[in-house]
Amino acid sequence: MTEITHLDAQRVAMLLTASIKSVTFYPQAHPAVRQPLQELSGILDMMLHRKPEIHFGVVEGVFFLEDHLFVAPNSSVAELADRLTAKGIDAVTTYPGVNQEDLFRFASLLARRDVTADNLPSEMERSGIRTLRLGIDQPVYGDASDADGAAPSKTYLDALNAVRGTMSEIENGRIPDSDRINAVVDDMVSLTIKDHTTLLGLAMIKDYDNYTFNHSVNVGILALALAAFQGMPRDFLRDTNTAGLLHDIGKTGIDKKILNKPGKLSSDEYEVMKTHAEKGAEIIGGMKNISPRVGEAVLGHHIRHNRTGYPEWARGRELGVMTEIVAVADCYDAITTLRSYSVPVLPKAALDMMRRISGTSLNGELVEKFGEMMGNYPVGTLVRLDTNEIALVVRPHPMESTLPGVKIILDSRGDALEYPKMVSLAATEGTRYASIVSTVDPLLKNVDVGSYFAT
Ligand SMILES: [Fe+2]
Ligand SMILES: [Fe+2]
Repeated sequence: MTEITHLDAQRVAMLLTASIKSVTFYPQAHPAVRQPLQELSGILDMMLHRKPEIHFGVVEGVFFLEDHLFVAPNSSVAELADRLTAKGIDAVTTYPGVNQEDLFRFASLLARRDVTADNLPSEMERSGIRTLRLGIDQPVYGDASDADGAAPSKTYLDALNAVRGTMSEIENGRIPDSDRINAVVDDMVSLTIKDHTTLLGLAMIKDYDNYTFNHSVNVGILALALAAFQGMPRDFLRDTNTAGLLHDIGKTGIDKKILNKPGKLSSDEYEVMKTHAEKGAEIIGGMKNISPRVGEAVLGHHIRHNRTGYPEWARGRELGVMTEIVAVADCYDAITTLRSYSVPVLPKAALDMMRRISGTSLNGELVEKFGEMMGNYPVGTLVRLDTNEIALVVRPHPMESTLPGVKIILDSRGDALEYPKMVSLAATEGTRYASIVSTVDPLLKNVDVGSYFAT
């Protein structure tokens, strides 16, 4: 199979520049528009027969397409690099099926003066572009970075490492340094402030072998998203995120035999396990540059809304909203990670379970908000579309809960797609890729939901 050549990559850039220029002056049907778009879609289509996705964008002012960097660009490529930078684009992913229509809409948006870095994402959504997407959907352990130096997947890995590092410092008898946690919190908060749904899919990654680290990061993400969904200020988001990441840090002080015991704990063992909340608060109290309310939230994350939890001595304390947000996030991740008969509880069922303990164990208002945030089809839900394709919900729509972003994983005949296709179900002016018909049990389709978020 032939690789993508430097000349092909350059041709893509030049054709895109030409298209941007011509759409400003001519209608779509004009040859000056049609010709470059036709050639562009042809080349991209050819590339997409060799790779599942094609990425292009700008790194440090340099245009790239896949492996090709244009350090000494011709004027047309340089113009594109400037244009992408001006629109705040660091990367674009192109998917199979890319067509002239989508390329025309994309070029038109890049040409418009009133489209800025701020409103480009929503304009992309509005214009119904389906085969081009801003950013790179990297595998979780990839190392993409965006303009702020933080892509969701990289941030997830950074967070895992920060939690792991903090815990191992404690195990080695040191007071952990908060710099690493604070740096990753900055990244997570920046990504979430732009769009509270950005990190949510990553919280569906379940790693049973590294449960504590994985669970900590997921709780950090879910708590942060819930706080952002309610429009809390930045410093509140930072502290909530930190509290989520560190909520179980006191488990470093629990005997490993108890911590990793597969069966039910004896009542003595359970008493020991319960001390992780106060141990965690104590550790945090000793760390520099961590707000005291993070320690409060960690201390209180098992006290429960109706004060029936632990530590018993702390039940009389006031439970701040941050503490209760962490408790809601903790509960959701624990339930969706649960495997009874090795079947994880589905997101929708987890929300129903939480609603049953809302007002007693959990703060009812927050459970309601959490349900609202996750939408009718929570991330991780498998759905059947009216095209008869089967898709996985990977991202809620920020406003419209019946129109999430999905990954199509089975075609209309039920055959698995080699390369799942990202599609937004939202559209405007009557054009929409498809609608959701029903939810589907992943077991019936033999689908391992978590694996789609981890790769
Ligand atoms: Fe806990
Ligand atoms: Fe927990």
